[in-house]
Amino acid sequence: MSVSRLSIQSLRNLESVSLTPSPRTNLIYGQNGSGKTSVLEAVHTLALGRSFRSHKHKPLIQWGREQFTVFAEIQHQGSRIPVGLQRALTGEVNFKVNGRAVGSLAELAAVLPLQVIDAHTFLLLEGSPKVRRQFMDWLVFHVEPSFFPAWKAAQRCLKQRNSLLRRDRIETSELSVWDRELSNLTQQIHECREKTIERFRPVFLRLLEEFIRIPGVSLSYQRGWDKNRSYQEVLADNFERDRHMGYTQSGSHRADLRINVEGQPAGDILSRGQQKLVVCALKIAQGYVYAQETGGRCIYLVDDLPAELDGEHRATLVDWLDKLETQVFITGVDKPSLLADWQDRPDAITRVFHVEQGTVTADVNTEQQ
Ligand SMILES: Nc1ncnc2c1ncn2[C@@H]1O[C@H](COP(=O)(O)OP(=O)(O)OP(=O)(O)O)[C@@H](O)[C@H]1O
Ligand SMILES: [Mg+2]
Repeated sequence: MSVSRLSIQSLRNLESVSLTPSPRTNLIYGQNGSGKTSVLEAVHTLALGRSFRSHKHKPLIQWGREQFTVFAEIQHQGSRIPVGLQRALTGEVNFKVNGRAVGSLAELAAVLPLQVIDAHTFLLLEGSPKVRRQFMDWLVFHVEPSFFPAWKAAQRCLKQRNSLLRRDRIETSELSVWDRELSNLTQQIHECREKTIERFRPVFLRLLEEFIRIPGVSLSYQRGWDKNRSYQEVLADNFERDRHMGYTQSGSHRADLRINVEGQPAGDILSRGQQKLVVCALKIAQGYVYAQETGGRCIYLVDDLPAELDGEHRATLVDWLDKLETQVFITGVDKPSLLADWQDRPDAITRVFHVEQGTVTADVNTEQQ
């Protein structure tokens, strides 16, 4: 899976950009504000319908323009799949995969699996459980096909149950229908997550060990309710409290992934640099498990790598990315330091792009094929 052609129109300062990325390493350099992160945003937006920098699409539309367009050709198992996205100021969205309009983002996410490593990602350990849940669910979504339909149905069920809880008079028979349904779906979601994390944990711990010596690191999955009781029991026991609060307090929507060091949250113990390394190991481990389970490759977008890690750890990360044999887009301000990490890798097909005031040009001199 890789992007073999990318064209971007009217996205931030990228007026009209067209590039032919390498199926492996793409190094993007340029001054501050030149448009490097915007190139990554274009790829991300295409895969997930939104940028990793902003959940809103309006800031992405170039000032004075009505809409932005991103188009790509995805190389997948010997065939090329055209994928296009257009988003207008009016809110109108137009997604196309293979010339066919698609309604759901899930379809696009399946075509273009993506991982981002940027300054924001490094907050994974300190952020709310929601951030880690989303991180975990990325992999679950890709490796457990029954997960997404169950998750979607559970969201609907939960909404219904919560609105019932807020009513003055609650029909217990009506509530018990939703409880049963929610309970079944929650169990399915939990099983998918648990199974996935069991496969993910050893890969993550092994990578981390190669990267940095932090003794006593553990990763545990929390299902979101008391594990000694069935979810249906928990719902029944918590009914009065849920009613008082007006929402369902326990469940798969409260699940978390805990990363501890000697039994304490990693975010409270590790230095900022060590946290970055742990997050890198988490992100790379997902790529490994994804490849193991699906045979596919996910694309990595790495924003401003040299600014985030020291030389030695950057080299290890580059080594991992290289071993993943996947497509990578890496940005950096300084060309020599960006290139230095990828030297002495004769089999890596590296393409270098220079971004200058919203225009992107392939750096022919450094292109190795
Ligand atoms: N909607 C928009 N329309 C036009 N220009 C925009 C819009 N949104 C942001 N910009 C500008 O686009 C430029 C691209 O920013 P981008 O973040 O991609 O730069 P960068 O090369 O990643 O910089 P840095 O090295 O500082 O991270 C910035 O100069 C920004 O001010
Ligand atoms: Mg940037």
